[in-house]
Amino acid sequence: MGICKSAGLPVMVLVIAVTGIRGQESAGNLARKRGVYVGAAVGGAFWGSDVRYKDTLKKEYNIIVAENAMKFDQLEPKRNLFTWKQADDLAAFAAQNDMALRGHNLVWHQASGWISQAAAGLDRIEMQGILKNHIDSVVGHFQGKILEWDVVNEGLDDASGGLRDTFWRQRIGDDYLDSAFTWAHRADPKALLFYNDYSGEGMGGKADRIYALVKGMKDRGVPVQGVGLQCHFASAKSFSVADIDLNMKRLGALGLRVSVTELDFRTALPADSAALAVQKDNYARLLAVCLANANCKSFLTWGFTDAYSWVPDFFPGQGAALPFDAEYKPKPAYQGMVQALTDAVGIRPALRPGPVRSQEVTLGFLRGSMEYSREGTPGSGTRAARNALGKWMEPR
Ligand code: XIL
Repeated sequence: MGICKSAGLPVMVLVIAVTGIRGQESAGNLARKRGVYVGAAVGGAFWGSDVRYKDTLKKEYNIIVAENAMKFDQLEPKRNLFTWKQADDLAAFAAQNDMALRGHNLVWHQASGWISQAAAGLDRIEMQGILKNHIDSVVGHFQGKILEWDVVNEGLDDASGGLRDTFWRQRIGDDYLDSAFTWAHRADPKALLFYNDYSGEGMGGKADRIYALVKGMKDRGVPVQGVGLQCHFASAKSFSVADIDLNMKRLGALGLRVSVTELDFRTALPADSAALAVQKDNYARLLAVCLANANCKSFLTWGFTDAYSWVPDFFPGQGAALPFDAEYKPKPAYQGMVQALTDAVGIRPALRPGPVRSQEVTLGFLRGSMEYSREGTPGSGTRAARNALGKWMEPR
């Protein structure tokens, strides 16, 4: 907005609204106005020579997450030897472009480096020491820069229904989750700490087990603040937005946030226009249900251009799962997201630069954080809740 004077009267002149590439307001800019974060996972292409990759990200979104660069093996490739370069690049890019940053992830069974090999020979105390050192170092390094951390990723087993029998659990015991969240909270009291998993988005067995897991943590005073719904969906399969809505609401009633953390709607290749239309509808409905629930504030796809997506590698014959095509052209799916954001006018307060205020209180969020303050860091819980969103949050 620019202001100029004409015949003594101030006239507001719209110089250039921050628009996306097509003169249409971007999803990220609409998201800022709706008080939410819409973004994507950033993969290896970020460090490549394709300038369209970064350009699209910064024009279209207001949050990013590292697809791989913050995982255990990448950040700690040798014991107690940390490599920050790639993750630091991402954090700098987010800061320069007024984007929020998610952290993914601190504890996962998929680590193939030294830790997975060393684990068998380590006892509980040694393993706790390694995990605590990793969490202290990583969360400490990014302290103040991460909006939401996925502390434990995919900690439940699909077959048994219990905890996944990872090397972390085998060596430390079931309390490795509680410990990881507690250490992460101490290292960055302002970061929102998430349990992240797949196939538990709508109501059902896995969602019930995730609910029981995080409820147990809350009951024990463990600092968990959200559940990440990965949302790796197949477009052709019907999915129940009503079920996802119910799940978001029951987690909200526990005082927890929910974030859509890794969305993609894969389709059989080659994708025809009918499949892309279904995909558009799916993207629009899922974002709309997030916008309709005050505890859902982050909505990220796993990548953004079909040029770089994990889907074709992991689901042979399928792909075209993301909002932009391989030439960085917005697909109907992206228009579906813009539509959902446009339709949500007025239902959420805007994000503006400035200190955090009372908005979080209305989410029942402060209540949760005050509980944590009782367990050892006097007062920090309240402050943490107020500052939880750093510079991005301010009341209307
Ligand atoms: C995937 C990445 O996209 C791949 O590049 C990597 O080879 C394996 O991990 N759930 C998660 C993500 O939590 O970390 C996974 O990311 C996809 C499934």
